[in-house]
Amino acid sequence: MCDQYTEEQLSFCTNLPKIELHAHLNGSLRDQTIKELADMRKLDPTLCHVVEKGERTLSEVFQLFGVIHQVTTDHAILTRITQEVIEDFAADNVQYLELRTTPKDRLEHGMTKRSYTEAVLQGVQKAKAGGCPTMVRLLLSIDRREDAAAAMATVMLAAELQAEGVVGVDLSGNPTIGSWDTWAPALGHARKLGLRLTLHAAEVYAPAETKQILDFRPDRLGHMCCLDIDLEQQFFSSCIPVELCLSSNIITESVASVSDHHFLPFFRAGHPVILCTDDSGVFHTSLSKEYAIAAHAFGLSQRDLWQLSEQAIEHAFLSADDKHELRQRWAEQRSGSG
Ligand code: IMP
Ligand code: ZN
Repeated sequence: MCDQYTEEQLSFCTNLPKIELHAHLNGSLRDQTIKELADMRKLDPTLCHVVEKGERTLSEVFQLFGVIHQVTTDHAILTRITQEVIEDFAADNVQYLELRTTPKDRLEHGMTKRSYTEAVLQGVQKAKAGGCPTMVRLLLSIDRREDAAAAMATVMLAAELQAEGVVGVDLSGNPTIGSWDTWAPALGHARKLGLRLTLHAAEVYAPAETKQILDFRPDRLGHMCCLDIDLEQQFFSSCIPVELCLSSNIITESVASVSDHHFLPFFRAGHPVILCTDDSGVFHTSLSKEYAIAAHAFGLSQRDLWQLSEQAIEHAFLSADDKHELRQRWAEQRSGSG
């Protein structure tokens, strides 16, 4: 649908070192893995059409997450998919990946939020042990369907697992449900515990909630598709970096087409933007493709693309030393690229 770029643009973007700051674990699965797991689990055949479909609306996307969640209920499977997802990002020359996932209490499967997260962290370790060069950190997501107690449990878990590579908390899920007051106390507590915060906002037009989120001042925002003039002004003056996911916004119809995407006005205004995939599996994309789509649609030069990828380092939830290491990697690769 939005795969409009030249081979040369895609090849340049594939070779470019990249930073991924907005990727949902269960949205980044290979189609082949979903099908294999669905067969193994003998998934209800009436649900298979959601897996087979190429392009999906927002409600079909959330139906597909329901299907994926039915087949990723096993700790060993979570470890496997985490490793695969990291390897796929590494193959796309993503050198730092901030992966996010929603810890799930599924007691019928012997799974708690903690055991879920530990299985994911094991996948990160396995990828590393297998020689994967991508630096990885984890964000724990609060799903908008969750109540205040579940949100707080995720925050406490994130705080306890900071030494294992959990760096922050995300708020995500179906943007048409839930209310800010439910999660605000947990998110405020996360900040006090030293966790970094990135919140999905304005995926649909919800001005009152978007204002509450902007007033809260998270470290980063995701999407910001539907703003009125006042919100846009508050957003620009906040200077809060925003993760932008072109294919995701277009496929889920938050934005009508690439040329209507808010990337360009944000970029032109000098607002910090980071190109990301959101759900590379569900939307059949990669970070290289997202950069190539942006290059093609917005006439970005190779210099712009280098700057975009390098500036993303500043917005990662990493220590000063880790950022320094990434900057050095970028400098070496840029000088080596001629
Ligand atoms: P998980 O957290 O690893 O299970 O990844 C899938 C979950 O990420 C979904 O169930 C949603 O809660 C969230 N998610 C993925 N894509 C989107 C999106 O486009 N908008 C809001 N939430 C999303
Ligand atoms: Zn997202």
